[in-house]
Amino acid sequence: MRAFVRVLIPLVGVLAALAWAAAALLNGTARAWYEKDVSLRAHLVVAGAREALVTHLSGGDRKRVGALLAEIARDDRIMAASVCGRGMRTLARTGVGPSAYECDGLRERFGDPGEGGRLELDRVEDAEGGLVHLTVQPLLDDGGEVLAHVALVHDLSFVARREAALRRYTAGAFAIVAILASILTVFVRRLSWRTWNEELRRLLTLGWAAPGASARSPRKEFQPLLSDVRQLVSDLAAEQGLGAGGRWSAERLHRTLTETLHGEGIVTLANREPYIHDRAPDGSLRVLHPASGLVTALEPVMRACSGVWVAHGSGTADRAAVDAHDRVRVPPGEESYAIRRVWLTPEEERGYYYGFANEGLWPLCHVAHTRPVFRAQDWREYQRVNRRFADAVCEEVDGPDPIVLVQDYHFALAPRMIRERLPRATIISFWHVPWPNAERFGICPWANELLDGLLGSSVVGFHTQLHCNNFTDGVDRYLEARLDRERQSVVLGGRESLVRAYPISIDWPNRWAGEAPPAAECRRQVLAELGLPPDAKLGVGVDRLDYTKGIEERLIAVERLLERFPHLRGRFTFVQLSAPSRTLIDRYRELSERVDAIAARVNARFAEGAWRPIALMRAHHEPPAIFRYLRAADVCYVSSLHDGMNLVAKEFVAARDDERGVLVLSRFTGAARELTEALLVNPYDVEEASAALATALAMPPDEQAARMRAMRAFVADFNVYRWAGRMLVDAARLRQRDRLSTRLNLGLHSVHEVKP
Ligand code: F6P
Repeated sequence: MRAFVRVLIPLVGVLAALAWAAAALLNGTARAWYEKDVSLRAHLVVAGAREALVTHLSGGDRKRVGALLAEIARDDRIMAASVCGRGMRTLARTGVGPSAYECDGLRERFGDPGEGGRLELDRVEDAEGGLVHLTVQPLLDDGGEVLAHVALVHDLSFVARREAALRRYTAGAFAIVAILASILTVFVRRLSWRTWNEELRRLLTLGWAAPGASARSPRKEFQPLLSDVRQLVSDLAAEQGLGAGGRWSAERLHRTLTETLHGEGIVTLANREPYIHDRAPDGSLRVLHPASGLVTALEPVMRACSGVWVAHGSGTADRAAVDAHDRVRVPPGEESYAIRRVWLTPEEERGYYYGFANEGLWPLCHVAHTRPVFRAQDWREYQRVNRRFADAVCEEVDGPDPIVLVQDYHFALAPRMIRERLPRATIISFWHVPWPNAERFGICPWANELLDGLLGSSVVGFHTQLHCNNFTDGVDRYLEARLDRERQSVVLGGRESLVRAYPISIDWPNRWAGEAPPAAECRRQVLAELGLPPDAKLGVGVDRLDYTKGIEERLIAVERLLERFPHLRGRFTFVQLSAPSRTLIDRYRELSERVDAIAARVNARFAEGAWRPIALMRAHHEPPAIFRYLRAADVCYVSSLHDGMNLVAKEFVAARDDERGVLVLSRFTGAARELTEALLVNPYDVEEASAALATALAMPPDEQAARMRAMRAFVADFNVYRWAGRMLVDAARLRQRDRLSTRLNLGLHSVHEVKP
């Protein structure tokens, strides 16, 4: 209906404008014709009566002149006629007209032409009661001398009446055309919708029909759609058929795992552990939640699925918390799964984690203008540590065909290593950071080994299709593998790996948002802690202190905001929560110093009394504290220069059940493709970013609510259970196929053996 109105309103508008223009044109033309016509008649009348008038005037017979005028005035349209003699004195007159048209009136208005002078008029005037046409013509004797003047007044009020009638007819014609056009539009729309529907139905039927069931193939213009539609329908069928339908939840994910994958537990391999045991200053054991998007996403999945999370034991008190098998059950108090801790020597950590993973692969994958460093020693450690973790995974599985989730760029080699020991394992690898294009990827001296390692997986997942394409382009360029673009897979050494996009997300309902105090209370607490008045405006940024996050650019945008909008000085405070990260790497130390320097400069520049525009909180913050800030803020600015997804953006959305607060989000995050109601910015463009911050701070509450509601609805549906569920469903299908083909191969093999 809306589309129909959208078509119809402009159509009626155009028709109305055309009708109005046509009526104006017709009226103008008709009026010119009428006036010309009347003028001609007036001249004809006088010419016809001239001879008689001259005769009677020359004979001084005014009575006969009057009779002649009366004869002339018998014409309905002639309102009055006068003959004016010398000095424009009335010699004869007839009819009733305004005095302005009698000889005296004419003399007053146009003057006395004088002895032998001529007065000639031919004009339309607006008189009381309507338009009139006035002609004054000199009456010449046979010698060409002016004997008198004849004035004729024609009634033109009929012109206005005819114009009104014409307008009515045009309006009527327009209404008829508009009605016909509306009927025609509805009809054509219905017809094309029905045709489209029929085509689509037939197209879908053809998709499932047995070969040759229908001789007719879909119309040419629909053919490119065929694979898309089939894919869409098969995705929907997969989501509905495998596990119960509806929104993905922890329960549904668990059901999918038990029903589709027959209850097998999961072994997750990720460098970062979800719970870190640490010593509090008083010497007691405490548990910390690391700042990591990977942990944010994976932890609820593990709680739903149960199993083992194999990770680097990085906490200072980690060893004190584990059992004899280096395992500890978590979450504390709930204990639904176990962490298996792997211990690394300082050399291993330096080479594998700081070196190859974070000085090599991290800058390689992010377009943030930091040069990757590849050292042979780091590579050796990376290989060795991948082997150690792969061995730990194999120790944790409880059968020959486990489900293993391998996470991130720390473990590109582990899938192949696990595959070698467990050929029937279902290995799902997920790359949490962007994947570079083939040319860029090629600068890594061990590009082939990394690709080969990942292709030990059954499924290789990325956040976006672009990163999938980059990966398959790399495979195409550097390996002898077969790409199956239709199935979105790579076949290497006879084994297929699906390469697909699975945009990651957070748990919904979100655990931390659910546990946080109401938004108003969070705001009250946070403002009090910062020493700000209740009407202060608050911005917040939450990140690891990493050069890909655009923290420098963010603080410079705050500086520019205060330059451009001085009314915000003393009123707006930006709180940056930055968790120290990878501090042994020079580039990170350098970043930390630069961020400090920018914050100090901006604060010094705009300080007013106790107020400072930037509050830099460089410390680890636990999720409850982070959520308090997210709920208190008027604006959250995520300014990553390049980011696979960025889950802080989604956490901000989850935190705002009060439907307030504005998200300003870098275009260069995966999240920007999904949270389109955020204010999207280029973080390098300080003008654009500062303008967006100003817009956010001035946004009316109802617009904030509308944007926030839409983003919350999106994240609720596209939550992390769906992310994991889709990967598991794809893996289950592949697993089913592999099992069938193994059985078939075994069957054929036994036939060969019996034959001889
Ligand atoms: O997106 C998640 C992520 O960027 C991971 O790639 C990374 O492992 C994590 O956050 C944090 O980094 P780290 O484990 O080095 O502290």
